[in-house]
Amino acid sequence: MSETFYITTPIYYVNSHPHIGHAYTTIVTDVFVRYRKLFGEETYFLTGTDEHGQKIAESAQAANLKPQEFVDRMTAEFRDMWPHLHIQQDQFIRTTDAFHKSAVQAVLQKIYDQGEIYLKDYEGLYCVGCERFLDQEELTEEGNCPDHQKPPQVRQEKNYFFRMSAYQEWLIGLLEENKDLVQPARYRNELLSFLKAPLQDLCISRPKSRLEWGIDLPFDNDFVTYVWFDALLNYVTALGWPEDSRYEQFWKHCHHVIGKDILKTHGIYWPCMLKAAGFPVFKKLAVHGHWVVQGSKMSKSLGNVVNPLEMKDLIGVDGLRYFLLREMSYGEDANFTEDLVFARYHGELSNNFGNLLNRSISMSRKNFENEVPPRGEPGKQEIELYQMFEQETSQIKAWVQQFEPHRALERIAMMSSAVNKYLDENKPWKLAKEEDQNERLGTVLYTALDASAWLVCLLEPVMPEKMKAARIQLGLGESPMTLEMLKPGLVQTGTQLPLPEPLFPRIQLKQKEPEKPGPTPKAQPQTEEKQEAELENLVGIESFQKLDFRTGRILESKKVKGSDKLLVFQVDLGESKPRSIVSGVAEFYRPEDLPGMNVVVVSNLKPVKLRGELSEGMILATDDGNSLKIVEAPGDSKPGTVVR
Ligand code: MSP
Repeated sequence: MSETFYITTPIYYVNSHPHIGHAYTTIVTDVFVRYRKLFGEETYFLTGTDEHGQKIAESAQAANLKPQEFVDRMTAEFRDMWPHLHIQQDQFIRTTDAFHKSAVQAVLQKIYDQGEIYLKDYEGLYCVGCERFLDQEELTEEGNCPDHQKPPQVRQEKNYFFRMSAYQEWLIGLLEENKDLVQPARYRNELLSFLKAPLQDLCISRPKSRLEWGIDLPFDNDFVTYVWFDALLNYVTALGWPEDSRYEQFWKHCHHVIGKDILKTHGIYWPCMLKAAGFPVFKKLAVHGHWVVQGSKMSKSLGNVVNPLEMKDLIGVDGLRYFLLREMSYGEDANFTEDLVFARYHGELSNNFGNLLNRSISMSRKNFENEVPPRGEPGKQEIELYQMFEQETSQIKAWVQQFEPHRALERIAMMSSAVNKYLDENKPWKLAKEEDQNERLGTVLYTALDASAWLVCLLEPVMPEKMKAARIQLGLGESPMTLEMLKPGLVQTGTQLPLPEPLFPRIQLKQKEPEKPGPTPKAQPQTEEKQEAELENLVGIESFQKLDFRTGRILESKKVKGSDKLLVFQVDLGESKPRSIVSGVAEFYRPEDLPGMNVVVVSNLKPVKLRGELSEGMILATDDGNSLKIVEAPGDSKPGTVVR
């Protein structure tokens, strides 16, 4: 019987627009689901929107809309965004759904009938941003809410309370016995240290005289339910509790993904509510940190809120998904900057994995009539590479199951580097020149293609659309793979390899504005003498036409021995073998950053030897007197395209 995996995101408040933080939570959850499918598990993925409460009511009023009209409009923003980010939830719940409201009322009635809910007069400090009463100890020195930096309001009113204090000892025991219930461990410790102080009963109602926008208490319709009591229950009501079979099938396998801001509600209120209502406790609370922008918390007032759709326009949806998953160590905060985004994109996607795929396919096409080459006899290197792939794959499964996706992606990047190294060491472009090495050439290229296919399967949960394109490039079928299928022999000898398009074309970065622009030099009136001298420097079009400019793709790059200035490249010009080209850019580039870059090459220069290295052309670069910058050809240009 296959394992079952039920996973949820928090349901998002609809009083603000979806931003990169919401996108991260939902993408990471989607990635967990897709990996579990790859592991052969049966999955159910729930997300949705949290639509009641004072905050929403106030936002609706400010927008001059009835609350229902307002939430209908805003929920669409979330629901419509997810497909653009390749998120495929099984269910999208809204807390204004009728089935949810009646199930919440049934749970409230159940707990009330057990005598666990009572009415009392209460005075407390209420933060509207958090939608909850705060304890005095939670406030900052200035008396503000630590999350919203505003003083809470003093509120005195009759309200219903849930006897949460009665569950304190039980909850401590639960957290102590289940070391993996809350992850990473420091969030479990945070909960345990919070539980050192006496747990207060939880106020679970709001008088209608103050707030009407909520679910009526079934036992007193002068009150609506507290928004968190309503919202947390979505995880159960979505499964159609009490009568739907999905509840029986999935609830006991429930994993919650949340941000650290809502640890207390999920780690304290929620298990107590579940216990009181007679539901088993969730299996896992997987808590992640926050995205900060250039080191600062995202906020509307700072104007630094990152819109996920704008980011996806820069590096593609799958590039964005990869960055978010790879850059954030799950559980810790991470910084979102364009520089970091481009460094990961170029370093790991264009140069490492993209380049591996591209050069494996291009060389196979060139040397084996556009087909996957024969596999040949695997040698020691091939056997070791596959062994490493097998070990890493089971380790990757473990990282994903432990909710540490960044570690899984780190291993995948390492595996891709290892295959690139294997190619660099075996130099198929040299083997191609030696007739008696054709079988070895086939084995090397087959292994590189096969390893690429393996990586495609491992990366598919993170980058579903790009990896679909990669499957087509490798002639793999479209049927979904499971982890067990990952064995040597994924690609089939003789399969046609279509002309590969770079999956992750390099992106021309916007030049940063100079810090202080210097004064623009005044145009000097030209003397006749000067004009003539300049005319003498001009060349006719026929001189220009003698030069043959072509686009090339750097396959390899290394320092020239004994020189600080020179790098030597292997450049694909769409010919039968790559050219060796020496370039004086060593002071301005690290050799490992250049493979995968598309460049402009003067291809009909007489070959020369520079410091013992053959140079069969020249790579164009700009020279401002201080530094050289390689002129990049468009990311999607095929090697050998004419430049004129
Ligand atoms: N409605 C409640 C949750 C109820 S769940 C029963 C809520 N909604 S929210 O719209 O404020 O979304 C909170 C979630 O969005 C966080 O827990 C986190 O998952 C995500 N993020 C919001 N800002 C974030 C960052 N800056 N970085 C990462 N994720 C963050 O709270």
